Amino acid sequence: MSKTILITGASKGIGLETCKRFFYEDNDVTSFILLARESDSFNSLLNELAENNPFNKKVKHFFIDLADRELLLSVINNINIEYDNVDLLVNNAGYTKPESIQQIAFEDFERTMEVNLYAPFTIVQKMLQSGNKFDFIVNIASTAGMNGRSGWLTYSASKAAMINMSEVMKAELSIYGTRVACISPGRCATDLRKTLAPDEDPTTIMQPEHVAGVIEMLFSDVGRFVDSQNLVVRL
Ligand SMILES: NC(=O)c1ccc[n+]([C@@H]2O[C@H](COP(=O)([O-])OP(=O)(O)OC[C@H]3O[C@@H](n4cnc5c(N)ncnc54)[C@H](OP(=O)(O)O)[C@@H]3O)[C@@H](O)[C@H]2O)c1
Repeated sequence: MSKTILITGASKGIGLETCKRFFYEDNDVTSFILLARESDSFNSLLNELAENNPFNKKVKHFFIDLADRELLLSVINNINIEYDNVDLLVNNAGYTKPESIQQIAFEDFERTMEVNLYAPFTIVQKMLQSGNKFDFIVNIASTAGMNGRSGWLTYSASKAAMINMSEVMKAELSIYGTRVACISPGRCATDLRKTLAPDEDPTTIMQPEHVAGVIEMLFSDVGRFVDSQNLVVRL
């Protein structure tokens, strides 16, 4: 049966690799809804998918800042109108601005929570309210949500909340046949990681395609046998 997947933060890193992994396989995921802000990287992915589409899959994108709640509500409304159902949801987009406690601007803490926690919640809530039935939701948290790190207060707090929110979703949505997984990657070579650890050599750590491979495994039939309450993915 044809499935629709929605991926937030599809423009680069883990989200982009997850998109490509499902797109370039002859599987039942035939329709893609991709969310991120407009950027060269996102435009280049969209061009690539348009020019090289071996299995004739459908792609729809929305340029959106996920911290913009009004815009998010309107995008979700459009998706609910245009699509019968979104089967797979990858709540992947993430934001961080590492700073000491003394330096954190409250507005930035709010922005972190809006992108990392409220947007995933809102997508799930609004789609459920409109009758959507998810087969599978994967929320991307972080090992930083399991152990707080110096200088990462806002990010660590948002990811800790993501882990807990995922547990509630898993418990509450199982009666609808929805599987909910939370994964907590460790160090992975992306722009976000560069923001957190600018001096690190990205070739020495996990790559985004490795995390995408784990997401694909979780979506697969065998994935249901993996305890995905908070699956740590790291090198
Ligand atoms: N890399 C790691 O070491 C690591 C470890 C643990 C967890 N994670 C998590 O993995 C997820 C993916 O991050 P990544 O490592 O792949 O980093 P990345 O390459 O920097 O990608 C982040 C994605 O999130 C999107 N995003 C950020 N702020 C947004 C906003 N306001 N509105 C819409 N989209 C926004 C970005 O899109 P734009 O083009 O709009 O910026 C981009 O697509 C995040 O949730 C991150 O916290 C990463």
